[in-house]
Amino acid sequence: MAIIQINGGRPLAGDVQISGAKNAVLPILVASLLTEDDLQLNNVPHLQDVTTTMALLAQLGADIGMDEHMRILINTRQVHSQAAPYELVRTMRASILVLGPLLARFGRAEVSLPGGCAIGARPVDLHIKGMQALGAEVEVKSGYIVARAKRLRGARIVMDTVTVTGTENVMMAATLAQGTTVIENAAQEPEVVDLARCLNSMGAQISGEGTDTLEIQGVDSLHGATHDVLPDRIETGTYLVAAAITGGKLRLQRTRPDTLDAVLSKLQDSGAHISTGADWIQVDMAGRRPAAVDITTAPYPGFPTDMQAQFTALNCIAEGTSVISERVFENRFMHVLELQRLGADIQLRGGNAIVKGVAKLSGAPLMATDLRASASLVLAGLIAEGETRVDRVYHIDRGYENIEEKLSGVGADIRRLTSSFRQPTSAAVA
Ligand code: UD1
Repeated sequence: MAIIQINGGRPLAGDVQISGAKNAVLPILVASLLTEDDLQLNNVPHLQDVTTTMALLAQLGADIGMDEHMRILINTRQVHSQAAPYELVRTMRASILVLGPLLARFGRAEVSLPGGCAIGARPVDLHIKGMQALGAEVEVKSGYIVARAKRLRGARIVMDTVTVTGTENVMMAATLAQGTTVIENAAQEPEVVDLARCLNSMGAQISGEGTDTLEIQGVDSLHGATHDVLPDRIETGTYLVAAAITGGKLRLQRTRPDTLDAVLSKLQDSGAHISTGADWIQVDMAGRRPAAVDITTAPYPGFPTDMQAQFTALNCIAEGTSVISERVFENRFMHVLELQRLGADIQLRGGNAIVKGVAKLSGAPLMATDLRASASLVLAGLIAEGETRVDRVYHIDRGYENIEEKLSGVGADIRRLTSSFRQPTSAAVA
């Protein structure tokens, strides 16, 4: 099992190429279940979660391949199974996304409940309620969601809570329903918009994407398409913080500044100089120590929960005290105990972390607990004096393509070590 080893203290400088968005490509891969034709995806990131989703689709009977340019071609004409087993779903919650497409195209789906999760309860009740509203019969049996429907019927659905994958699941199911579906209190995340764009290029009739109300006019069938996956705003944000935490200067290429307003605004508050073009962002900290910034997470366009851990790391070495309020997931502070091992001064009070910035952190062995928490530990390691080792790196590999190569390419002293005796433990995480 791999470990990432970092010798901190080097300001980063240079260019980083941003990969396709994990949270866009996963639902789009699954959307291939809605058509018998070929779906070609470009700008696919090389991530463990993509491999897991491809394995899930292949297990259902899909024909799926990837070329050296990371283009994926999928055809689901021969799909013979409608069951997503626990072994796959427990390692990646996003597997729940097959529920809507399988139900819409084949009239049945059996999807394991995701089970316990490292970052809070994270139920799937709204996915189930959405399918029921579209006319499906759903029961939970032996840990599986078993859903059946002859043909789904359009409905007006008001989501109790803003849910990203819940919105995506219902939106995908509604594309093939009879009649019109309206989803209110829908998620507005750029990844939901990217999925809607892909579905529309497959012949779906979705409008309102990027607002809190989606209207989907059901059609009889969808056809093939080619789609370029949106750049990853969370990967982008993580490298922005890498520059800011080390007092460095980075230019992030092939990204989308318009999807990062809340993050860029907080970085400016912390003292970073930001400039942007159509597909790049430059961040320059000019050797300064960042100023502490308060953060409250919220659904898009609010500050993303997936950037909370990285900003907690930034605040650890900032000048001043900050309050980090987590409002999307309870228990999403597992990085705090690890950051404290580096010398950070953080107190947890309910859903808030109070961070008193310290002048320096010192390297230590750390344990990654979930995807974004692990990224925050790498960021802290970049500025900590001496050696930091981050164990359980498989969490990072779920969502960051070649993180150590990208960081060493801009001056970080970081490498991956492999040790043969550790066994990964599996946990369903973001
Ligand atoms: C997605 C992202 C994840 C991100 C999260 C919030 C993907 C693959 N993952 O996760 O990276 O951290 O959005 O931006 O896109 N909830 C319910 N009932 C449900 C569903 C959700 O109560 O049926 C609650 C959750 O417990 C949570 C909130 O809704 O408090 C938001 O969760 P949700 O947006 O669904 O997260 P995911 O879609 O799982």
